[in-house]
Amino acid sequence: MSDNKNKKIVILTGAGISAESGIKTFRDQNGLWEDHNILEVASPQGFERDPELVHRFYNMRRKQLLSSEVAPNEAHLAVARLQRELPNSEIFLITQNVDNLHERAGSPQVLHMHGELTKMRCIESKKVFEIKENISAHRACPCCLKEGNLRPHIVWFGETPFSMDEIYHHTAQCDLFIAIGTSGVVYPAAMLVDLARENGAHTLEFNLNDTQVSDSFHQHIVGPASQTVPKYVEELLNSTPHIT
Ligand code: OAD
Repeated sequence: MSDNKNKKIVILTGAGISAESGIKTFRDQNGLWEDHNILEVASPQGFERDPELVHRFYNMRRKQLLSSEVAPNEAHLAVARLQRELPNSEIFLITQNVDNLHERAGSPQVLHMHGELTKMRCIESKKVFEIKENISAHRACPCCLKEGNLRPHIVWFGETPFSMDEIYHHTAQCDLFIAIGTSGVVYPAAMLVDLARENGAHTLEFNLNDTQVSDSFHQHIVGPASQTVPKYVEELLNSTPHIT
């Protein structure tokens, strides 16, 4: 850091940061998501139409996430290292990912704006439960004991992401906004860069390619996140870069 003033950094991550951990991204499969139409498995209407299919879909994804095939990669580890080690700074990590790889990499704080695969919610009380095992549409809810009242704690199409007031608050105040592995096509996450920039932040994008929102960033670092993010973090920790 260039001075002793407290600096604020917001990091927004997307599916690209978990791609090298073996979790597929969303927009490279012709609108299909693990062979399902996205709206079938990721909308309130889809859940109403076929709750068993939706539970099966998330059961599979949870099983994969918790299997030995999937582990945090160097990019998750570097983000966690930055959160722990950067002096004179406050880092607020927002992820659109529903996996738990930031937590497993040791990130001390993670905000899951699109929910979490390892959680379920009662549709009546809105109480949230940790879950590791498979769920069926007939499973009784732990709080109201009614069958069919548990749903994945995931933000589906047409629903509002979690904690938006907090996200806007931190983003509008940051000095540096970093997006890693996100295509910038899903709102409101996609407009956070504009909010940060309008309020004076320096904005930095890590991606394999240009994205729909690349023009909103001051700086681009192109390449696989598992290589580019650790290198950047190392430089930030070893130097006194300017956050302008
Ligand atoms: P996308 O699948 O839309 O975009 C992934 C981005 O990561 C793309 O821009 C890729 O170029 C980039 N990428 C892939 N591999 C990478 C790597 N190794 N290193 C760096 N970048 C890489 O995923 P998101 O932007 O996260 O919402 O999608 C946003 C939301 O759309 C998701 O959270 C999900 C989906 O609908 C919900 O589930 C609510």
